[in-house]
Amino acid sequence: MHHIELLLALLALMFTSTSEICISRHNISAIEGELFYLKYCSSASEHNNETATIKWYKNNESHGCIELNSSSSPRITLRDSVLEFWPVELEDSGSYIFQMGNDTHKWKLNVIGRSKHNCYSEKLIISKTVEVQKSLPVACKHDYYQPLVNRTALYKNCVKIKEGKTPGLKKNAEFADQGYYTCVFFIPHNGRLFNATKTINVTIVGDRSKIIPVLLGPKLNRVKVELGKDVELNCSALANERDLIYWNLWDENGKEPNVHEEKVTKIRTPEGKLYVSRMLGIKNINEKNLKFSYNCTVVSEGGTDTINFVLLKKEDMDDIPGHIFTRGMIVAVSVLVVVVCLVIMGVIYRVDLVLFYRHFMRKDETLTDGKTYDAFVSYLKDCGPENGEEHTFAVEILPRVLEKHFGYKLCIYERDVVPGGAVVDEIHSLIEKSRRLIIVLSQSYMSNEVRYELESGLHEALVERKIKIILIEFTPVSDFTFFPQSLKLLKSHRVLKWNADKPLSYNSRFWKNLLYLMPAKMVKPCGAESEVLPVLSQS
Ligand SMILES: *[C@@H]1O[C@H](CO)[C@@H](O)[C@H](O)[C@H]1NC(C)=O
Ligand SMILES: *[C@@H]1O[C@H](CO)[C@@H](O)[C@H](O)[C@H]1NC(C)=O
Ligand SMILES: *[C@@H]1O[C@H](CO)[C@@H](O)[C@H](O)[C@H]1NC(C)=O
Ligand SMILES: *[C@@H]1O[C@H](CO)[C@@H](O)[C@H](O)[C@H]1NC(C)=O
Ligand SMILES: *[C@@H]1O[C@H](CO)[C@@H](O)[C@H](O)[C@H]1NC(C)=O
Ligand SMILES: *[C@@H]1O[C@H](CO)[C@@H](O)[C@H](O)[C@H]1NC(C)=O
Ligand SMILES: *[C@@H]1O[C@H](CO)[C@@H](O)[C@H](O)[C@H]1NC(C)=O
Ligand SMILES: *[C@@H]1O[C@H](CO)[C@@H](O)[C@H](O)[C@H]1NC(C)=O
Ligand SMILES: *[C@@H]1O[C@H](CO)[C@@H](O)[C@H](O)[C@H]1NC(C)=O
Ligand SMILES: *[C@@H]1O[C@H](CO)[C@@H](O)[C@H](O)[C@H]1NC(C)=O
Repeated sequence: MHHIELLLALLALMFTSTSEICISRHNISAIEGELFYLKYCSSASEHNNETATIKWYKNNESHGCIELNSSSSPRITLRDSVLEFWPVELEDSGSYIFQMGNDTHKWKLNVIGRSKHNCYSEKLIISKTVEVQKSLPVACKHDYYQPLVNRTALYKNCVKIKEGKTPGLKKNAEFADQGYYTCVFFIPHNGRLFNATKTINVTIVGDRSKIIPVLLGPKLNRVKVELGKDVELNCSALANERDLIYWNLWDENGKEPNVHEEKVTKIRTPEGKLYVSRMLGIKNINEKNLKFSYNCTVVSEGGTDTINFVLLKKEDMDDIPGHIFTRGMIVAVSVLVVVVCLVIMGVIYRVDLVLFYRHFMRKDETLTDGKTYDAFVSYLKDCGPENGEEHTFAVEILPRVLEKHFGYKLCIYERDVVPGGAVVDEIHSLIEKSRRLIIVLSQSYMSNEVRYELESGLHEALVERKIKIILIEFTPVSDFTFFPQSLKLLKSHRVLKWNADKPLSYNSRFWKNLLYLMPAKMVKPCGAESEVLPVLSQS
C-alpha cells in the first residue's frame, strides 16, 4: 500500500516534470525580448523512432505557411522537437506546427509587448493563493533553462529582494507577503545575456477554518444622546469572510427615515483575524429614536450574535446623579465646615466647656483622695515695699476668690500654720495634703525661704506625680535662669498671667483658667460678693 503510493507519487512527479518542460497547451503567450521555446510532447514510442523526420512550420496571416530552418531567422534555433527563440519578438506571433512522421502539434503563439511600468506582464502571471500562517514557497527555478542559468534575481512588486543561483522564499505567509513575485533568469548565449521571467501573483487569504462570529463590546449598550444631535453606533465583530453583519431597523411601522446603515468595512489583522464593522448613523435624533432598540446581528453558518443599543437622553442620565452629586458636595462641605468650626470653638472655649461640663455633671474630684487642701499657695513671704502687691494677691485676692466665691480650701502658710513646729517637715506634709501647688511667681520669688516649697512641690509633681503645679506669673518673668530646670518642663498652659492693671470679674478668663486648672469641686452657693473685684492700687 505504502509502496504503491510512493510509486504513484514518483510517477506523477516524472509526468509533471516532463509535461512542464514540453508544451502541450495550444494557446501560449510570451513576452517580447525574453527567451522562449516550444517543445513537442512526444510519446515514448515516437521518441525512440530515430529515423522519423522532423519538420517545423510557421503560419501567419500575411505570409502563409512556411517551413522553418536554422537560417530562417538568427534568433531561432531548431533542435529536434524543440524550437528556441533568442529572444522572442512581437513579429514571432503566429501559429507554429510541429511534424514528426504522421504526428503534428500546433501552437498559437501570442507575443506580448513589454510593460513600460512593470517588470512583468499582467497577461502572463501565475496566480497562487496561500492561507495566512501556512507555508508560502516561492522558488526561482526554471523548468527548461535551469541548466543554462548563470544567475537569478527575485523581485517582489518589481523591487529586487534576492539574488543567487536559485533564490526563493520559504516562510509562513503573512498578509504583508501578498504581491507579485518575479523571478528573472539570466542566461548567457553567444556572448549575450538573455533573460526569462516567471511571475506569481501571490494572494494571502484568511484562515479558512470557520469561527463562530462574536460581536465586540457589551450585549447592551446605553448611548447618551441629545435630541436634535447626530450619533453613530459602531457594531464590530470578529467574523469570517462571508459572514453577514447588519442592523435590525424595521418594526411594524417600517424604518425611521433619519436612520442610515453604512457599508460594511473589513479589517484584516496581520495574524489573519478579520474584523468586520458596520456603522449606524442617526441624524437629528428624535423621541422615536429614543424608544427604539437598535440591534446589530452577525450571522454565519456557525451561529449568530446580537448586541443591543438603546439611546438615552443625556439630561436623564446626568441630572439625577448631578443633583445628588451637588447636594452631596454641599452637605459634605457644610458638615466639614461645621466640624472645623466646632473643633476651633472647642479649642478656643475648651476651658468654658470643661467648666460647664464639671458644673453640669456635678463633678467632684476632691471627695475620695483623702487630702485636706485644694491648693497650697507658695509666694514670696518677705513683705517688703517692692513686693507688697504680690503678698496682697496671695493672701487676700486669691483666698477671696477661690475660697469665698468658688468654695475651695487653700493652705496659706502665713495664715493656716501655727508658728512653732519644724518648718521644713511641716511644709512637706502640707504640700502632700494639697491637691495643687499654686506658685505666685515673680522676679524676686526665688528666695531661700520659698526654695524648699518649690523644690518639694516640683518633686511631688514631676517625680511622684501626686500634685499638679499651677504657676501664676504675677509680674512678667523674663529670666528663668534662677529657677530650677524642672520648672521649665511644666507645660505652658499651666502658667497663668496676672494682669494687675485690669479689673477682673469672676467671669474673667484668668479666673476661669485658674478654675480649670483647679480640681473639680462642687461649687457652694456663693455669698453676696461684688461681681467686680477691686482694682489693685498702683504703687
Ligand atoms: C485558443 O485558440 C483557439 C483557436 O485560435 C481559440 O478558439 C480559443 O478561444 C483560444 N483559447 C484561449 C483561452 O485563448
Ligand atoms: C530582460 O531582457 C530584456 C530584453 O533584452 C531587457 O529589456 C530587460 O531589461 C531584461 N531584464 C532584466 C531584469 O535585466
Ligand atoms: C519510424 O518512422 C518511419 C518513417 O516515418 C516509419 O516508416 C516507421 O514505421 C516508424 N517506426 C515506428 C516504430 O514508429
Ligand atoms: C530555409 O528556408 C528559407 C525560407 O524560409 C529558404 O529560402 C532556404 O532555402 C532554406 N534553407 C535550407 C537549408 O533549407
Ligand atoms: C508573419 O511572419 C513573417 C516572417 O516570420 C513576419 O515578418 C511577419 O511580421 C509576420 N506577420 C504577422 C502578422 O505576425
Ligand atoms: C502514416 O499515414 C499513412 C497514410 O496517411 C499511413 O499509411 C501510415 O500507416 C501512417 N503511419 C503511422 C506510423 O501511423
Ligand atoms: C555569468 O556569465 C558571465 C559572462 O556571461 C560570467 O562572467 C560569469 O562568471 C557567469 N556567472 C556564473 C555564476 O555562471
Ligand atoms: C493578483 O491578485 C489580486 C488578488 O489577490 C487580484 O486583485 C489581481 O487582479 C491579480 N492580478 C492579476 C494581474 O491578475
Ligand atoms: C468601530 O469599532 C472597531 C472595533 O473597536 C474599530 O476598529 C473601528 O475603527 C470602529 N469604527 C469607527 C468608524 O469608529
Ligand atoms: C432588539 O432586541 C430586543 C431584545 O432582544 C428586542 O426586544 C427588540 O424588539 C429588538 N429590536 C428590533 C428592532 O428587532
